[in-house]
Amino acid sequence: MKGVVLAGGLGTRLRPLTSITNKHLLPVYDQPMIFYPLQKLAEAGIRDVMLITGGNSAGDFLRLLGDGSDFGFRTLNYAYQVKEGGIAEAIGLTRTFIGGDRFVVILGDNILEDSLKPRVDAFREQREGARILLKVVDNPSDYGVAELDGTRVVSIEEKPARPKSRYAVIGVYMYDSFAFEVIDRLEPSARGELEVTDINNAYLENGTLHADIVKGWWADSGSSIDGLLQAGIKARQLRVEEGS
Ligand code: G1P
Repeated sequence: MKGVVLAGGLGTRLRPLTSITNKHLLPVYDQPMIFYPLQKLAEAGIRDVMLITGGNSAGDFLRLLGDGSDFGFRTLNYAYQVKEGGIAEAIGLTRTFIGGDRFVVILGDNILEDSLKPRVDAFREQREGARILLKVVDNPSDYGVAELDGTRVVSIEEKPARPKSRYAVIGVYMYDSFAFEVIDRLEPSARGELEVTDINNAYLENGTLHADIVKGWWADSGSSIDGLLQAGIKARQLRVEEGS
């Protein structure tokens, strides 16, 4: 099982904090944002990771993270995304690194309380397909939204104006190499990006998409200045609880 962390994008929702740096390098309480998703992968037992970034601050990730040994990784690999082509395009850049293996993708601004280990272990038990994580939110229109029938996902829509549920698809995706076949035939969405929701819907169509509902808190720290602040507050609470 390999790991992928996405840390590209322009971070326009966090300007001017992101005017001269990549949003994933901003502080969330006492650590750079990007540390949190890397720690989640390490905790889940993933040892080979690729980080995708772009823009002018790409070299700063190398300076900050080096060979990844501080996180316990065997290898930390890097890829450069030239354009803002979307999450699915960024995942496409990992094809050679993944090399037919299965993998866990985490968006570099998603901060979770829960360990990913039980989720990744459940994916390891799956014969094939994909696994996504859902979280009940108050503002589903800001996310990919899953419609459920019991515990089964029946549809996923990207940022719908009229969401069919309050289940946001959070930025943790587990795939087998079928994902790359899907990416090859994706067309850009209205916002000009290859959408991760389209990958998930392809798995949904062939009946191999599984979903878990996350119980602990989840912060999309790159979504807004308030999201960043909330993530910092949650991270501090967790640090205090860990210390007590
Ligand atoms: C992306 C995905 C969306 C998902 C969200 C989670 O949105 O497109 O489906 O719910 O991440 O953070 P973006 O942050 O690119 O707007």
